[in-house]
Amino acid sequence: MSLAIQLIAANAFTTPTDAVIVGVFEDSGLTPAASEFDRLSGGAIRRALERGDAAAKLATVTRLTGLVGLPASRLILVGLGKSTALDAAGFIKAVQETAKTLRSGPIRHALSFLGEVAVIGRDPGWLLDQQIVAFAQHGYRYAATKPRKPGEEGLSTLAIAAAAGLDSQRGEAIAEGITLARELGNLPPNLCTPAHLAETALRLAGELPNFRSEILDQAEMEKLGMGALLGVARGSAHPPKLIVMHYRGAGNAAPQVLVGKGITFDTGGISIKPGAAMDEMKYDMCGGAAVFGTLQAVARIGLPLNVIGIVPAVENMPDGNAYRPGDVLSSMSGQTIEVLNTDAEGRLILCDALHYARRFKPERLIDIATLTGACVVALGKHAHGLMSEDEALVAELLAAGDRVHDRAWRLPLWRDYQSQLDSNFADMANIGGKHAGAITSGCFLSRFTHDLRWAHLDIAGTAWDEGRKGGATGRPVGLLVEWLRACAAEAAARPGA
Ligand code: BES
Ligand code: MN
Ligand code: ZN
Repeated sequence: MSLAIQLIAANAFTTPTDAVIVGVFEDSGLTPAASEFDRLSGGAIRRALERGDAAAKLATVTRLTGLVGLPASRLILVGLGKSTALDAAGFIKAVQETAKTLRSGPIRHALSFLGEVAVIGRDPGWLLDQQIVAFAQHGYRYAATKPRKPGEEGLSTLAIAAAAGLDSQRGEAIAEGITLARELGNLPPNLCTPAHLAETALRLAGELPNFRSEILDQAEMEKLGMGALLGVARGSAHPPKLIVMHYRGAGNAAPQVLVGKGITFDTGGISIKPGAAMDEMKYDMCGGAAVFGTLQAVARIGLPLNVIGIVPAVENMPDGNAYRPGDVLSSMSGQTIEVLNTDAEGRLILCDALHYARRFKPERLIDIATLTGACVVALGKHAHGLMSEDEALVAELLAAGDRVHDRAWRLPLWRDYQSQLDSNFADMANIGGKHAGAITSGCFLSRFTHDLRWAHLDIAGTAWDEGRKGGATGRPVGLLVEWLRACAAEAAARPGA
């Protein structure tokens, strides 16, 4: 991580730095650290508030400069709104605004006292993790094919005042997992090929504890009968890879299995997409990228859990040898699929990867995919689409997303929608018509997972931000790590554990 994190004592008011960061409430006024710095500076903070040069409104960030008597000449005052109403979303928003103002500029070292406040329903460890994640994410710059300009460095170290007994390792692991997902997502599709993703999995196996990776090549997938995945791969000059990563943190316990869509570029194939914004289809492997980021974070944290990550990595191209509308593919499960649109390719690679996951006897199985434009229409860019018939699993995933503000929203997977996939020539068609496109893609996947504890996350709207300044978000690594932490806690509390 380019941002170094240090923890210091909660009352380390004299640590020299470039800027100190403190909070202020609308109702109860200065937080304890802010009061202390106000006293040391001869009342500079109160004067700024009285003059209207600073405000306590939630997520208002003011920079006070030229202060004397403090360990730093600058103080960043962060408005936190009403102390009785500061919830997780409000705190994250305030921290993100703060991190944003420190993205560039002369401040290289900062010292945050934001962890001293009370957030409804959250403990001090959560406040610490959220600060680390927010500052690391705002400090991230894509640099793989475009070096940083001098002067764009921003923060290099962040010291965080925290109670004794807390440590920064978990927050840093989550932040680095999110960063890995963003970096893979942002990498251009000529570099981020199926082979590159496979190499990344092998690199992680060399770096992480209790971690191993296997790569299945085309011949092995042919032997397994993965006709759906291989159908999609046929148009590409880049051979497909099935990437399987194993993190073993709990002996022989049944694993949680994550399957991430890894389409390294989606042209649509013969049902080719229009040209506008087609470059964004380099992000079509962001489900896979989230699986990489989550597994890295989980291994670094050392969660007492077994987690398997599966990433079918394939490019969807038009070609003389490409699959076509009308083709009938035979999936590994034995079910046949009539291709009515080669642009509905994600579900074809996922159905074989999900079927392959059965050999690991998953306790729970989640797939993560930039699957449908329809999901973006339904939920926009804020919520992941969540589909599952397992009520308990739905509740777990929704709650985990709420806790870290990486939220999902459920769409129904009622049987009523299944008939939209009827085909005259195969067991099912790969598209379900113009209505409820996110749901019918979920229905398609459910035909391969009906007897498993399975959920589907459609991240088409949330995996990247559009436009020139946009880029991969690293979502839903935050949700998945939080959910896996809860799975580990539940397993530990089980009788006999
Ligand atoms: N990768 C796309 C989904 C997508 C589109 C994600 C736009 C983000 C933004 C997926 O492979 C796709 O093309 N889906 C089709 C399905 C349709 C042919 C049933 C879609 O959404 O149009
Ligand atoms: Mn497509
Ligand atoms: Zn796609």
